[in-house]
Amino acid sequence: MIRLDGDLICLETDHTGYYMARRGALLETLHYGTKIQPDVPALREKTGAGYGTDVVVAGAEPDSLLHLCLELTPDGRGDFRMGMVSARFADGSTVCDWAFCGAEQKEEPLPPAGLPAAWGGAETLVNTFTTTKGLEAQLIYTLYPACDVITRRLRLRNTGDAPVTILRCLSSQLDLPRREYTLTTFTGAWARERRPQAAPLTEGVREFGSRTGNSSHYCNPFFQLAEPGAGEDSGRVYGFNLIYSGSHLERVETGPYGKTRVLSGIQPEHFSWTLAPGEMLDTPEAVLTFSRQGTGGVSRNLHRFVQRHIVRGPWADRPRPVLLNNWEATYFDFNEGKLLRLAKEAKKLGIELFVLDDGWFGKRDSDTCSLGDYTVNSKKLPGGLAGLGHKLNDLGLAFGLWVEPEMVSPDSELYRSHPDWAVQTPGISPALSRHQLVLDLCRPEVQDYLIGQLNALLDSAPIRYIKWDMNRHMTDCYSPVLAEQGRFSLCWMQGLYRVLEQVTGSHPEVLFESCASGGNRFDLGMLCYMPQIWTSDDTDAWERMKIQSGTSGGYPQSVMGCHVAASPNHQTLRTSQLEARFDVAAFGILGYELDVTRLSPAEKSVVAAQIAFYKQHRKLFQFGQLYRLASPFVPAAGGESCAWMVVSDDKTEALVLDAVGRIEPNSETPPLRLAGLDPNRRYRVESRAQKIDIRDFGTLLNAVLPVSVNTSGLLVHAAADRYMLDTEKESYTAAGDLLMEAGLRRKARFAGTGYNEEVRVMPDYSARLYYLTALPDALPAPEPGRP
Ligand code: DGJ
Repeated sequence: MIRLDGDLICLETDHTGYYMARRGALLETLHYGTKIQPDVPALREKTGAGYGTDVVVAGAEPDSLLHLCLELTPDGRGDFRMGMVSARFADGSTVCDWAFCGAEQKEEPLPPAGLPAAWGGAETLVNTFTTTKGLEAQLIYTLYPACDVITRRLRLRNTGDAPVTILRCLSSQLDLPRREYTLTTFTGAWARERRPQAAPLTEGVREFGSRTGNSSHYCNPFFQLAEPGAGEDSGRVYGFNLIYSGSHLERVETGPYGKTRVLSGIQPEHFSWTLAPGEMLDTPEAVLTFSRQGTGGVSRNLHRFVQRHIVRGPWADRPRPVLLNNWEATYFDFNEGKLLRLAKEAKKLGIELFVLDDGWFGKRDSDTCSLGDYTVNSKKLPGGLAGLGHKLNDLGLAFGLWVEPEMVSPDSELYRSHPDWAVQTPGISPALSRHQLVLDLCRPEVQDYLIGQLNALLDSAPIRYIKWDMNRHMTDCYSPVLAEQGRFSLCWMQGLYRVLEQVTGSHPEVLFESCASGGNRFDLGMLCYMPQIWTSDDTDAWERMKIQSGTSGGYPQSVMGCHVAASPNHQTLRTSQLEARFDVAAFGILGYELDVTRLSPAEKSVVAAQIAFYKQHRKLFQFGQLYRLASPFVPAAGGESCAWMVVSDDKTEALVLDAVGRIEPNSETPPLRLAGLDPNRRYRVESRAQKIDIRDFGTLLNAVLPVSVNTSGLLVHAAADRYMLDTEKESYTAAGDLLMEAGLRRKARFAGTGYNEEVRVMPDYSARLYYLTALPDALPAPEPGRP
């Protein structure tokens, strides 16, 4: 709800409140956090003691900007912290004396021009500021009450009669009146994306973000600030994100007076945008949330927000199909026969969608050529895409296809006919990455070409899914069509968004999955067009626990593509159990990415059972509310572990992942405290029936078998291919309060003493799943005084 009450401006969601008030020509931030009963005099910064050497701006009140929490800080007037806007006026001056003009409530949202934005906001507020030099700023806030999210952005307009050059225009400035926070960023690189890095703030600046032309696996735009004592389930935590897919900047500055300024927006490095009189510039939307339920509360707010207000179209809340992707099964080495053999086996296992990855076009038998030439390689696919698509459909599978539209190989027909379409700086040979160059999407004719090509491709065959890849960072940035090169990065992104809007908009029934060498562009901007993202090229079960845990900080399972791949894993060469790979991948959009024709009969029946189990609980896995019970980043008693839980909105169903990394031998298993259940209901807890490969026991087999066998010999392999051992069965009924307070007491872990149904055989990198259902009989109401 938005309330304007004299000088006071209130923005309130279900549990949070953002309060501000006029202070002379300034707009003071009074409080953002838990919803309260605001009172302006009580919340105002008290500054009666004088300012020492600090600068005082003339005004109704003698204010020093450095001591205040402000919505938009004047630039060059004594607030020595960095602000949202930096501008250069026609006379060369740079001072922006922002003066608050007033607040206005809008019925209609004001979407940013040329950029994606959240949809379905409840109310919008616009705070307007002007400068003496004729630059106007509007701060635009939109409320998403049930998600406890407020979005913010900036719109600049030249209201003067001379050009103004904008050098920095961030989306959001949040000033907080204290500085005792722990900042967590989500950083990494290819194959190890979004690892939480937490460190307490110290006086000074923490600056992070990306300069790669994409939101980047080096540092995601999502980050959080936690008050002392806050943890996964409790305490005050702020979450921040940005609806943008290009280079971005986040900056947390603690000034000399114990305050914290949080900035976020597009990367200002190399940016400049000259506004002619009357012209306007929109920035991307920044996303803010707050929770008293710790980092878990922040995640659940953001998950709801992504599901309800970022992802759109018919796939927004539709369960996503289980797919088989041929990439790690074949890489570039395939033909139609091989693909159809994979597909036939996939169908038998329960797969719904067959995705043909890279290598189906031009001369592309390696990554050295042909990007841009999306004509089918008829040696590999003699019947073309339509031929393959129809054959897959006849098998009962939907057909999905990989493309990488934003790139061009120097060895391609496209490049030979349009060398000027590749991004390069005059006089400098462009740097290659994966043998490819970036297409200049600042050029309208390149955008139109891609829209035409992609629409034609989609209409040429029964394609129901597109994996839209993007495999390099941007360098050598320059576009001859731009009069001002400082516009390059934003213009390029606007060009890409236009292409995405047109292509996805004209094929609403096609499911699009964004990808950028795995998770190099995992952001809210992409999710406005494509309902899911390939989380990482790293499919190792243990690495995935880390990557999915980190990613879940800001993004729900319903947008994370997660595949079961071969073991040893292709990225780490690490070995893990087939069941563990599934248990982890199930907490996202399940896929398989391995040669299913080479699975043993026993493995095939395991995979078929996995897929059947996933389909039975798909809605819960993809859309359930997530609780992180144990972090793979925090070693615990018993060794490395990871536990997640998803709970249905009505709390009648839940699934629990209980997984280990490197185990500690002969250690006890402490009770696992569950979360999110109804304390007053009884639940049945059942372990999922899983299988163990007898070869996992190695030579220990001889200790239990009546005869001695060569444990690496043919006999054991032949037996293992047909027969697997059952895991222990666990089944309990217990009340929600017991499960959440005392915790689930699982069976003891194998400790060198044998295999039986009382022992959980859990070697390194293994896992279990538990399924909970509420029993119809409600417990009696709690006694008075009992929580
Ligand atoms: C990078 C992606 O992340 C992979 O899944 C695969 O599609 C390759 N590109 C294909 O080149």
